[in-house]
Amino acid sequence: MQSPFRIVQLSDTHFLKDDALAEGGEGAYDTDAAFDAVFTHIAANHDPHMIVVTGDIADNGFTDEYRKAAEAFSRFDVPVNVCPGNHDHFGHYSARIGRPGVSTSRVIEIDTWAHVFVDSAAGTLLPQASGTVADPPPPVRLNSNGVLGARETAWIRETCDTIAAEHVFIWLHHPPAAPLGLTEDAAYEAEWRALLSELPQVRGFGGGHTHVPDDYEIDGCPVAVAPSLKNNFSMAPQTWLPPGYRSYEFNANGSWSSDVHLVDDERWPRRPFGSLLASLFRGDISHGELRQIIERRNAERTAN
Ligand SMILES: [Fe+2]
Repeated sequence: MQSPFRIVQLSDTHFLKDDALAEGGEGAYDTDAAFDAVFTHIAANHDPHMIVVTGDIADNGFTDEYRKAAEAFSRFDVPVNVCPGNHDHFGHYSARIGRPGVSTSRVIEIDTWAHVFVDSAAGTLLPQASGTVADPPPPVRLNSNGVLGARETAWIRETCDTIAAEHVFIWLHHPPAAPLGLTEDAAYEAEWRALLSELPQVRGFGGGHTHVPDDYEIDGCPVAVAPSLKNNFSMAPQTWLPPGYRSYEFNANGSWSSDVHLVDDERWPRRPFGSLLASLFRGDISHGELRQIIERRNAERTAN
């Protein structure tokens, strides 16, 4: 392989159908503009061998949002491989994202490495009598903080056994055990801790979901969390962040490194965020409660 093998990771692109409202509303970035800015920044600063996109491809899971995403990803002149997130409608995603150069491969082997692409919300899918799986009624998948389920867990284990790669890197939407109250989920964390104890060849994870770029470890295994293109935050200091992406270098000896890149621009100032958003990230209030508080404040403002 070309060593080091260079990958650029985008996550949480949240492409939005032209006449649709952004899920969650308040403060959502123009994700078309964010993609353009990120695409231009990558072209000017990196020379990747492959692009990876780790879920929340579409904001509402509409078929037109996948068409838009696929056209955007087709602009890269290197292969693009994607996996789904909790915002993705699995049926629409599976049917509409593929294009020449844009794929949903689940395993990509590169020399001593196997890159394994996991659906970290697969446990929400409903087995059908036909033998296929179907999306659960909304908002089950949307609200999922990550659930592998028996089928995906078995697939990860069996895949790692079958490919027998020396080094495995897991790409997925929900990073396991992210140190953020909002996304804490003991059951999901336990699924990964059990798998890691059986799969010593796993060298790390690349995820998204939190919209808070971060680096940490689970059971000594490093986890890299990518920035989002919809809205993006820093916890220390507590500020909004511009959209961004991560770059990676994978070496034949199993080592890897990664950096976060943010695309600063006056459209996305690094302004402080208040106690309400801080409460959300700590997990003190839910997204639904946040929405209710904002609606109540807006109504009070209008009344005054
Ligand atoms: Fe997201």
